[in-house]
Amino acid sequence: MNKDELILLLEEMTISEKVNQLLQLAKPFFKGASDEGEITGPLETMDVSEKVIQETGSVLGAWGASETKSIQKAHLENSRLSIPLLFMADVVHGCKTIFPVPLAMGCSWDLKLAEESAAIAAKEASVSGIHVTFAPMVDLVRDPRWGRVMESTGEDPYLNGLFAEAQVKGYQGKSLREDNMSLAACVKHFAAYGASEAGRDYNTVDISERELRENYLPAYKVALEAGCEMVMTAFNTVHGIPATGNKELMRNLLREEWGFNGVVISDWGAVKELIPHGVAENKREAAEKAILAGVDIEMMTTTYIEHIEELIADGSIQEQLLDEAVLRILQLKEKLGLFENPFRGADESEEAHILLHKEHRNTAKQLAANSCVLLKNEKNALPLKKETKLAVIGPFAESTDLMGPWSWQGSKKDVVTLYSGLKSKEYHASITRSSGCTLTQNDDILLKAALREAEKADVIIMALGEDSEWSGEAGSRTNIQLPEAQVDLIQRMYLTGKPVITVLFNGRPLDLHGVIENTDALVEAWFPGTEGGSAVADILYGDVNPSGKLTMSFPYSSGQIPVYYNHYQTGRPKHAIDAQERYVSQYLDSPNSPRFSFGYGLSYTTFVYEEIKSSKNVLNKEDSLTFTINIKNTGKWEGAEIVQFYIRDISGEVVRPVKELKGFEKIYLKPGEEKKVRFSITEKELRYHHYELDYRSDAGTFEAMIGPNSKEVKTHSFQLIKS
Ligand code: GLC
Repeated sequence: MNKDELILLLEEMTISEKVNQLLQLAKPFFKGASDEGEITGPLETMDVSEKVIQETGSVLGAWGASETKSIQKAHLENSRLSIPLLFMADVVHGCKTIFPVPLAMGCSWDLKLAEESAAIAAKEASVSGIHVTFAPMVDLVRDPRWGRVMESTGEDPYLNGLFAEAQVKGYQGKSLREDNMSLAACVKHFAAYGASEAGRDYNTVDISERELRENYLPAYKVALEAGCEMVMTAFNTVHGIPATGNKELMRNLLREEWGFNGVVISDWGAVKELIPHGVAENKREAAEKAILAGVDIEMMTTTYIEHIEELIADGSIQEQLLDEAVLRILQLKEKLGLFENPFRGADESEEAHILLHKEHRNTAKQLAANSCVLLKNEKNALPLKKETKLAVIGPFAESTDLMGPWSWQGSKKDVVTLYSGLKSKEYHASITRSSGCTLTQNDDILLKAALREAEKADVIIMALGEDSEWSGEAGSRTNIQLPEAQVDLIQRMYLTGKPVITVLFNGRPLDLHGVIENTDALVEAWFPGTEGGSAVADILYGDVNPSGKLTMSFPYSSGQIPVYYNHYQTGRPKHAIDAQERYVSQYLDSPNSPRFSFGYGLSYTTFVYEEIKSSKNVLNKEDSLTFTINIKNTGKWEGAEIVQFYIRDISGEVVRPVKELKGFEKIYLKPGEEKKVRFSITEKELRYHHYELDYRSDAGTFEAMIGPNSKEVKTHSFQLIKS
């Protein structure tokens, strides 16, 4: 149907059919759902009539070709105008084949694999009847106490934007209409949810407009420029008004300034939450503020169906607002081809063939290996020799809890554990495993068994980490260390004097006190997904040379939070040449910089960076400046190196970060091989929001920096002149 035909359809709809089109309900409300009628928990508070359900616009969380088809069929049989349902779900890092959590994927700096993983997730979700995914989540994160850092690609706005674009392209493919193995993407959570105060989920966000525009908004905009079809509102306030009722943010900025005319959906319950937030006295006022802000779909609360009609009747809002919202939803259904084919990609026979396809597992394994970050490797602990006798010790030795939060349809029975990953190498070396303790408790019997295994082994592989429930939504922690029982265990194992190699499975940067001192090597594996154990085994044996680089800083302790690489210098920088002993910006009990910085990650080989060369040292508005650096693999291993390019504006109208990522290149070098890497910059990349938020560059001195991470960089100054 073209837009005119959609408008004709809209004109045929009664006002109650229009209002009900704005509602999204979880699947137990629908006929044909496998759990039809199982209205439990928060669902019980929802009073929705049979008629409302028959006119509802979309379903949350249905899964499976047969179930989604039976729900759609039952719905259309009762739909006066045959308006099909939209099926939406959280396919955030894989559907049946689970990929590494986004914070892990970010550490791969591998945009191509990120796009490929999204395309695979789209295939597996579409064949199971899903049309829209609530991804990518692009919230910038700087506080590892916040459990949802695992869902983001990290602390840098530029890199988050590139990953947002890659995921949108992967999910949506070339055409939602032509390719029914594609998914409409929904960028979230708009906006700045990652800035929740003190890392406590759903907490207040209070940041300046300039901070919002410089760091927190860019990645959402890149996602929308990549064609992302939907936006989900954030739970938090922005400038004192919850995003879901924030007209300035959602209508003036998102729709008018950025020109977004797609569907906006509230987060779960966020419309009604305007009441506890304290900006609505009742559900009527909540509905009024949300619809005025431009929120089209109300997820899992009923303020719209209860009050929109009366708001129109008494002139509080124009019916045109309702019509615009309904039309955007109908247009999305049209884009997905649902009016012609309401079952779209759902196909039981294809489903059996596509889900967990071995090629999908291979991609998941490759991405998981590329997401691992080697944080320490002393005494040549890694890579392992094939004949080495191993004892895999720790609660994650054989844990299947490797998929992390939002692994929804992923099944633990499909997960490759670390122990099975190592065993499957079949290197004919003895490999034993013993938990040594539970996730949180010491246990003498477990400890004694572990010590016995360690005694018989050449090398101890510690497998430690967080329960996946300790991160993700509502997974905030004030203490970001591993549980004491696990720290005790690694200390006991290190005291044996045997080489210790530690693998961490976790959803956030951790305070590594007690861990880093008691291990010769440390691999950050995050929640690596379905193929996690096989990917880590590849890393430990050197079948894959680790190349991952952190995209979120690891603080020494939670006392340092927030600590991030693109910070401002202050008037009393600790490192200044003339810095005083005491009266500088510092802690008395901790370094200023994080334990591991943004961009940090080791390899089994070594790369030497020569000095930066540039074509000239003056840049004007019209042209570009190219920096070249020669990099050589001076080690014994072939490997990938993520070369990072940063810029610093020495002096601005407002303070400027000590460095900002402006480019990177992943290069592959054999031992002895070298390569010239080039980065170009134009005046455009030097622009920023000035005091009055005008976005432009200033003439003056800049520094170009290139290095293997944000701390160890070669520097080269240049001038921007206003020609
Ligand atoms: C949750 C999350 C959001 C998710 C939605 C639907 O509360 O905040 O990210 O997409 O509900 O499950």
